[in-house]
Amino acid sequence: MTPTPSTPAPSHPLAATPQRPPRAELHLHLEGTLEPDLAFALAERNGVDLPFADPAALRAAYDFTDLQSFLDLYHATSQVLRTAEDFADLTVAYLRRAAAGGVRHAELMVDLQTHVARGVPLAEVVAGVTQGLADGEAELGVSGLLIAAFLRHRPGSEAEALLDDLLALDAPVAGVGLASTEVGFSAAPFAPAFAKAAAHGLRRTAHAAEEGPAWHVTEVLDVLGAERVDHGIRSLEDPDVVARLVRDQVPLTVCPVSNVRLRAVPSLAEHPLPAMLEAGLNVSLNSDDPSYFGGYVDEVDDAVTAQFHLTRDQRADLAAASFRGSFLPADAVARHVAGVEEWRRSSSESQQPRD
Ligand code: HPA
Ligand code: ZN
Repeated sequence: MTPTPSTPAPSHPLAATPQRPPRAELHLHLEGTLEPDLAFALAERNGVDLPFADPAALRAAYDFTDLQSFLDLYHATSQVLRTAEDFADLTVAYLRRAAAGGVRHAELMVDLQTHVARGVPLAEVVAGVTQGLADGEAELGVSGLLIAAFLRHRPGSEAEALLDDLLALDAPVAGVGLASTEVGFSAAPFAPAFAKAAAHGLRRTAHAAEEGPAWHVTEVLDVLGAERVDHGIRSLEDPDVVARLVRDQVPLTVCPVSNVRLRAVPSLAEHPLPAMLEAGLNVSLNSDDPSYFGGYVDEVDDAVTAQFHLTRDQRADLAAASFRGSFLPADAVARHVAGVEEWRRSSSESQQPRD
């Protein structure tokens, strides 16, 4: 059974979406794309009980006070994911929705430890996501990469063991990440896993300064060798951190709607995105966990464009940064950036953002 995705695929997926630029999505948790309808379909398929009466009741629980309140629900709902087919269906459902909003390349973080801890074999998860990425590319022309996100609230040794298992499987993983509870858990225990990932040619990204202080960014750059920083919004609190990020043009995968929904910032109007752009930081727009936060990346673009009166050039710059910050090879980045430049030039009155 392939559950019907909540949003239908566009009739011609590669048709231009002229009101929005083509883009890459770099900060996306696969489990965070699980829409309530699909969660209930998978729960039924797998005989799993969800502690909610129906999809509407589950969605009504999406009222978060901070990162942890979200993570508790997110981990609980992820339990409906059991088989390779589930992971493939989830991946394709996300790619269809993302493609409809202009995404041409997606890098999907997956919380492998969560699933392995529940008894789902690692090979099953990897096979399902890999199949979903292949099916999505065939159907939609959207490329995808898998990033193994280590869980910061779990021991570093567990992350390293997971990496060993992935390497033993010769799993098609492009990189490693660091996610989950930031405050109260150091990144340092993950240094051996990140060093081993680098030695095996894997790319490296890490969440930092979402809820935690600016020095968490320095920590993931220096201790983990992160090439990219997920969130990084509190970097602005330390001019030295900003200066370094600007100098090295470290990609920051910013998720404004997520930050508001998890109350990392009080409102969209108070989000530091404009200040980050003003400072010259290398920012891209992303959704993080779109099912839970009520915004796929095209909706995030729409929201910040309306809130901050972004110009077409600023939106094109953000979209180009998403490809440049990706883990794609240079020729693919150049091809995608050329597509953004075409969008930038194709302006017309009707395509200008509203004031
Ligand atoms: N932060 C940390 N871990 C996460 C997030 C996030 O925003 N979303 C899913 N896992
Ligand atoms: Zn995240």
